[in-house]
Amino acid sequence: MKIPMAMTIAMLAGGFGTAAQAAGNIQAGKAKSAACTACHGKQGISSNPDYPNIAGQTAPYLAKSLREFRSGLRKDPSTDMNRIAAGLSDADIADLSAYYASLRR
Ligand code: HEC
Repeated sequence: MKIPMAMTIAMLAGGFGTAAQAAGNIQAGKAKSAACTACHGKQGISSNPDYPNIAGQTAPYLAKSLREFRSGLRKDPSTDMNRIAAGLSDADIADLSAYYASLRR
């Protein structure tokens, strides 16, 4: 079985009991989301049409998007997301994805 990288790292980091939790910590993601609210809104719903709503999207999709912005595979025309994702660790991505997936659209 192939175990996703973020999950492996979260499990190695220890402390998380189950695989479901190891995929990302919602509370940790909430704390880290302070860096995202200026553009994506307080609850992941943006009031500015230049920025997409990210609340309620699935965690795997959010994590994939962030990894692709980080690697440069996906390019944000404004380059903002590429710059921001460059500073995220795999654990940050897992936590942020779990948090935004937990919010209502
Ligand atoms: C300076 C503004 C800005 C900040 C701050 C910002 N983003 Fe973004 N984000 C954008 C823009 C603009 C896009 C759309 C990029 C594109 O067109 O591909 C985007 C797209 C995304 C997407 C893809 C959404 C989709 O539907 O495909 C995700 C996920 C995301 N951001 C997460 C985050 C997270 C998590 C943070 C905080 C760590 C964050 N963003 C901080 C501007 C920002």
